[in-house]
Amino acid sequence: MNVLGIETSCDETGVAVYSAERGLIAHRLHSQVDLHARYGGVVPEIASRDHVRRLLPLIQEVLDDAGIERPDLIAHTAGPGLIGALMVGGGMAAGLGAVWDCPVVPVHHMEGHLLAPMLEEDPPEYPFLALLVSGGHTLLIAVRGLGRYRVLGSTLDDAAGEAFDKTAKLLGLPYPGGPALAALAEAGDDTAHTLPRPMLDKPGFDFSFSGLKTAVMLKVREAETKGTLDAERADIAASFQRAAVDTLVGKSLKAANSEGLSRLVVAGGVGANALLRAEMARRFDGSVYYPRLAFCTDNGAMIAVAGALRHADAGPAGAVLARARWALDTLEPPAGG
Ligand code: KG4
Ligand code: ZN
Repeated sequence: MNVLGIETSCDETGVAVYSAERGLIAHRLHSQVDLHARYGGVVPEIASRDHVRRLLPLIQEVLDDAGIERPDLIAHTAGPGLIGALMVGGGMAAGLGAVWDCPVVPVHHMEGHLLAPMLEEDPPEYPFLALLVSGGHTLLIAVRGLGRYRVLGSTLDDAAGEAFDKTAKLLGLPYPGGPALAALAEAGDDTAHTLPRPMLDKPGFDFSFSGLKTAVMLKVREAETKGTLDAERADIAASFQRAAVDTLVGKSLKAANSEGLSRLVVAGGVGANALLRAEMARRFDGSVYYPRLAFCTDNGAMIAVAGALRHADAGPAGAVLARARWALDTLEPPAGG
C-alpha cells in the first residue's frame, strides 16, 4: 500500500510517498520561509497562494521519484493550522482522490509530529511520553497507543517555538527565530544572565513562556540603555535558550516519573534544538526518540506515515475536511482498532 502524504497547514508544502511494506519511498518539501521573512511571521493569505502554486508539481515529482502513477491512499493534514492553507491540501486530496478513485484519510497535524519517529530505523514502542514542541504547540502527552492520548500539560501562553521566535525578534534576528537564536547562543555564555524557569517548581505539567520572554525584553532594554546590546546579544540568547531547555527537560522528566514511562518521544520544530537534545540525553533515564532533523519541522512524510497507520479511518473522497482548531486528545484509535 502506497500512501501519498500532503502537508499544508502552515508555511511548508510537504509531500511524500510512504509504503506500509517498504517504508518511506520519496519526499519533497518547499519552504515558504523566504516569502514570509520580510513580514516577520507567516502571512496566511500568502501561505495559501503559495501552496496552490507548489502543491501539484511537488506531488507529480514525488510520484515520479516513487515510480508510481497514483497512490493507494491519500493522507492530508486536516488541522489544526491556517484554515486557507489547510483547504488547499484538503481540496487537492479530495480532487485527486475523486480522479484516482482512491480513499482519503484526514490526519491531525500534531499526531503527524507525534508519529514522525515511526519513520526511523528504531521506532519507539508504546507506551511512551511525548513532548511536542512546535511553533504553535507545547504538549506533554501520555501515549498508550495510536489515538490513545492523554494530555498531561500544555502551555498557558506562548508555545515553545513561539517563545524562541519572539525572543529572536527582540534580539534583532530574522524569522524564523529558533534556529537563528540557537546559532547565536553558541557564541554566548548561558550563565551571564539569570532568567526565570517559569512553572518549573510548580506542581503539574503545564508550561508558560511569556514571563521568560518579558524577562529577556527587560535585559535587552537594559543593555540598549547602556549601549552594550551588541556585545551582550549572544549571552542573552544563550541564557534564554538554557532557561527554555531547562524548563522543557525538567517538566518532561517529572511527567515521565509520575506516569512511570521510560520512553520519550521529542518532536516538532523545537525538537531540532541541539541543546534540548543534549540535555535530554544527559538527564533522561530512559530512551529518547526523535525524528531525523529534517522531519522535526513540518513535512509530508509524517502525514504519510500517520495516514498509513490510520488507513482504517479512510473513506471515499468527498467534502474537504479542514479544521483550524482541533484538540489532539479528542482523537480516538483507528476505526475497529
Ligand atoms: O513544527 P514546526 O515546523 O511548525 C509548527 O507546526 O509550528 O515548528 C516550527 C518552530 C518555529 O517556532 C521554529 O523557530 C522552531 O520550531 N525551531 C527551533 C529550531 N528549529 C526550529 N527552535 C529552537 N531551536 C531550533 N534548532
Ligand atoms: Zn508542525
